Amino acid sequence: MDKHLKGTPIFVSAIIGLSCLVFFLDNLRIHTVYHAFLGVCQLTILVITIFYFRYYIEKVNKERSNEFNELDQLNRLLIDVTPTGIVLINNDGIIKYVNKAAGNILGSTKTAGLNILEFDTVKKSNLYGGIVKATKGIYSEVLGERYTSFTTRTKKVLNFYVSPVMAENTQGISHTILFIHDITQEGKLKEEIEKTYLSTIEALVGLVDARDKYTGEHSKNVSKYTMMLCTELGITDGEELRNIELAAHFHDIGKIGVSDQILNKPVSLNDAEYDQMKKHSSVGADIIRKIEGFEEISEIIRHHHERWDGKGYPSNLSGNDIPYGSQIIAVADTYDALTSDRVYRKGMPKEVALKIIFEEKGRQFNQEIVENFVSMMARASVERIY
Ligand SMILES: [Fe+2]
Repeated sequence: MDKHLKGTPIFVSAIIGLSCLVFFLDNLRIHTVYHAFLGVCQLTILVITIFYFRYYIEKVNKERSNEFNELDQLNRLLIDVTPTGIVLINNDGIIKYVNKAAGNILGSTKTAGLNILEFDTVKKSNLYGGIVKATKGIYSEVLGERYTSFTTRTKKVLNFYVSPVMAENTQGISHTILFIHDITQEGKLKEEIEKTYLSTIEALVGLVDARDKYTGEHSKNVSKYTMMLCTELGITDGEELRNIELAAHFHDIGKIGVSDQILNKPVSLNDAEYDQMKKHSSVGADIIRKIEGFEEISEIIRHHHERWDGKGYPSNLSGNDIPYGSQIIAVADTYDALTSDRVYRKGMPKEVALKIIFEEKGRQFNQEIVENFVSMMARASVERIY
């Protein structure tokens, strides 16, 4: 098995009893399986039965001074080979056993023998604080399973799973097992995949902007106006601002699916062409939705062509049923479109564009957003940002 494990990234998890199946499934990320299928890595599922672990616990109880020596080779290998850290703690809070993986995370297997509550005195431990957090209150209550995550001082991201072990011949808990899963690499891999996906989308934004001859920097402009407007509206929440800014930047990404002929048509679109054009907000939302954590951004994009009076698309939402970010982007988007040169007309002067937008308050746009935008732009000394 050692030879098999060498040199190949392998994701292994231990299942000890049914309760740990939950832990296993929690940690088996879908991209792990995906990569396994692609042949990037092998996926090995290692199963340790509760029988072997009970056997081990009995051994530990019997042979405190010579722990683990008499376990058969297979059991030892199974427990030592898993990258899931396993720590066994008795009812007095004493760490009875630390497997190899837990030893690596802890920095040493010599933590065996320490009381869990004194654990934070082990300054060199990577688990400083985390192990105490995971097991907090463990001895003062009848414990169910407990699951928590922790980032160490050395930036390791660890999942903890605490599970009680019921004594075979007595009532109550005999030991507690702490499973530690180092998901740092998994997180990095996920970050890398998302970064790659984002840069692909960024390239698509450039492509969409470049295809529209007259609004080469539309996405950048809309994003700028949107953020100025957010400030004017007093939005200070960092996450909300980030979501709205990204949505503004990506709002027309779905136009990648609209033909050049429609995108740059010098006369008005016929019904069929307009229907195709209208799909861009949903297409864009679906592209962005594939990024984990971008669900809200996706919804802002989906609804950036809704109207306050419910006559917009794709969902005919009205009023504040429309995501607030979409309501803001709608105003910024329209202003940039009106002031840009088009195939069939020159860009309008600032005053004319602002007048048109002002007249649409309560119809196409949220009244408060329009009033803030118009007063903000009236103060601005420039016609257009770019
Ligand atoms: Fe759009």
